[in-house]
Amino acid sequence: MDNVYTSVPPNPSPFDLQLSLLWVSSPCVTVKVSPGGVGIAATQLCKTVKDVTVFGTASASKHEVISQGGVTHTIDYRTRDYMDEIRKISPKGVDIVLDPLGGSDTNKAFNLLKPMGKLITYGAANVLTGPKKNLFAVAKSWYNHFSVNVQSLMNSNKAVCGFHLGYLDSEFELIAQVANKVLELYNQGKIKPRVDTTWHFEQVGDAMRRMQERNNIGKVILLPEPKKEEEKKEEPKKEEEKKDKKEDKKEDKKEDKKEDKKKEESKKEEN
Ligand SMILES: NC(=O)c1ccc[n+]([C@@H]2O[C@H](COP(=O)([O-])OP(=O)(O)OC[C@H]3O[C@@H](n4cnc5c(N)ncnc54)[C@H](OP(=O)(O)O)[C@@H]3O)[C@@H](O)[C@H]2O)c1
Repeated sequence: MDNVYTSVPPNPSPFDLQLSLLWVSSPCVTVKVSPGGVGIAATQLCKTVKDVTVFGTASASKHEVISQGGVTHTIDYRTRDYMDEIRKISPKGVDIVLDPLGGSDTNKAFNLLKPMGKLITYGAANVLTGPKKNLFAVAKSWYNHFSVNVQSLMNSNKAVCGFHLGYLDSEFELIAQVANKVLELYNQGKIKPRVDTTWHFEQVGDAMRRMQERNNIGKVILLPEPKKEEEKKEEPKKEEEKKDKKEDKKEDKKEDKKEDKKKEESKKEEN
């Protein structure tokens, strides 16, 4: 395989060192919220490492896409306990967990690690349950937040670390090195960002709604330029077509129901 990392390159960059976390034999990684923009990118980076096994959580309708993107074992977190599902396949747990959920899920992530495993926490998605602020979800997440003492880290042979790109904004050199490495992988065809949809700035509300309703698979992109006049003219036509399709479906359903009723009645008559 020429598209995988098998050894540490000379003069490794910080990015190489992060990937070197995966240079253990047959590493297992759990990527939570794997159909998101970040989850898809993380999966692609994991796949640059030899013999990696990736577990990904997502709602069932997105499993096919994330499997094609490199997730080895897909888990429907809405209907199953992902801890149980992972332990069925990998009883000892996993080497790395990427956790953007926070709250009780971070405790679960820590418990899922094998000795010498590493938990990387980079979000608190559990506090976002819909378009409006949910104070109950914030309180629940805070109450269940993960805390650990250093002694127990040593005794369990586990590591915990955090990542927040927003707070690395003054680290120009580091970011440039990582961006160059990512571009190199892109130019070599080893990674490819998955764009879900693109929106103009004036459509920011629709773009946000798409994410909040969890309909996106991959990145939702905002375009800085305003929408072209021709596109604006096309829009009402598209809306009308959508309405027509909906009406047609409703009519079809009504017809189906009528047919079913007729069939039932004729069965009754026969009996
Ligand atoms: N620290 C940083 O530097 C940094 C940078 C960027 C993003 N983030 C964080 O990373 C997280 C993911 O970002 P993103 O852009 O990939 O998000 P996104 O595009 O909105 O995707 C999240 C998707 O993950 C799925 N998911 C799977 N399990 C979930 C669960 N238990 N709870 C909620 N959603 C779940 C959801 O789809 P289904 O429910 O349909 O499966 C959802 O559509 C966010 O929390 C974000 O704040 C952190």
